[in-house]
Amino acid sequence: MKAEILGTTSKAIAKAAALLQAGEVVGMPTETVYGLAGCAFNSSALAKIFETKERPTFDPLICHVDASVQNLADLEAIGLVNPAALSRVAQARVESLMYRFWPGPLTLVLPRHARVPDLVTGGLDTVGVRMPRHSAAQALIAAAGFPLAAPSANRFGRISPTTAQAVFSELGDRIPMILDGGACEVGLESTVLLVNAEGELTLLRPGGISETQIEEVAHASVIRATSPDAALKKSAELAPGMLDSHYAPSKKLYQLEASVSELNKLEVVGLETAALPESLGLLMLSGSAFEGTSKFEALTGRKVIAFTLSESGNWSEAAQNLFSTLRRLDESPALVLFCEPCLETTGIGHAIADRLKRASHGSKQVAEVAHNR
Ligand code: TXA
Ligand code: MG
Repeated sequence: MKAEILGTTSKAIAKAAALLQAGEVVGMPTETVYGLAGCAFNSSALAKIFETKERPTFDPLICHVDASVQNLADLEAIGLVNPAALSRVAQARVESLMYRFWPGPLTLVLPRHARVPDLVTGGLDTVGVRMPRHSAAQALIAAAGFPLAAPSANRFGRISPTTAQAVFSELGDRIPMILDGGACEVGLESTVLLVNAEGELTLLRPGGISETQIEEVAHASVIRATSPDAALKKSAELAPGMLDSHYAPSKKLYQLEASVSELNKLEVVGLETAALPESLGLLMLSGSAFEGTSKFEALTGRKVIAFTLSESGNWSEAAQNLFSTLRRLDESPALVLFCEPCLETTGIGHAIADRLKRASHGSKQVAEVAHNR
């Protein structure tokens, strides 16, 4: 099978919807990253999603709904959420978040409806729901007539795709069709927020909507699943997207100790410059790739291929370019990759820091570089 890539015409959307109704899976553009979509209530379509991605079935899927959903009662009516399991306070918080941030890059993890298959929830009693903002995703869900379960359209643990071509290179030989809705506007996966019965908010994955934005709307504080608080350990485990190694390029990626302009020597704990191969890749957060290249070549004595995420240092632009740039470096002749450290702790910069941390290797793997050079 070779995936057909079609523009988002109404004819193409009807064709994709027909495939979904027949239990097939298709590549779907959203404003965050491309998804691999299948009917959320069809077990064989769900099994196909896991099989196509080589994804372990304990990792739950997000269900995507269209703009006909207005409130919790609608989420119950389509068989996704059980609002009765939420207190009044929790319900009010959920609905304010829905009104303010949907459609958009916010996934709410809520008590599941009995109709939701276990394959969607990974056997948990919660379900992740979001309403994507991309018009083609909206149109596809409406045309299909059911919510679409859709993980990012990459093989498990690899870089999420932000273009139809990237979906093709990940899964093109395994799926019938990819809708090409252009490059993704946000470039990073949605923020995942768990709302429990009492209405407590736990951030399971940072993304396009920041904690501050959420706190302002919900009038409640957001707890980080990654905080050391032992009581939170369980919720961290509930978000397997938080696995340490995720979003990884196939080449080794190391985070530098400082940005290239501040670097006086190649400093990565325990990394021996002598062991490095002839050609290196460099991912800069900001500034000129041209200057970064010459500085890094001077520091390492190697050939360097550098890309910058945003020359002017704009975080949204950086997020938009993150995965496509990692992918370019992965496909370039560079053999070992470096990235500048991202120290942001808030907003979309926090989401970039999170993805870079998971994409990069710890210093424990340095010995391996030496052996594989
Ligand atoms: O932006 C996005 O969210 C993209 C686009 C396609 O919508 N989708 C996406 O899906 O990133 P995926 O499967 O790559 O990540 C889903 C993550 C899971 O790994 C898990 O961390 C969290 O969402 N999740 C989903 N359902 C959950 C649940 N019931 N409980 C806890 N975490 C859940
Ligand atoms: Mg993913």
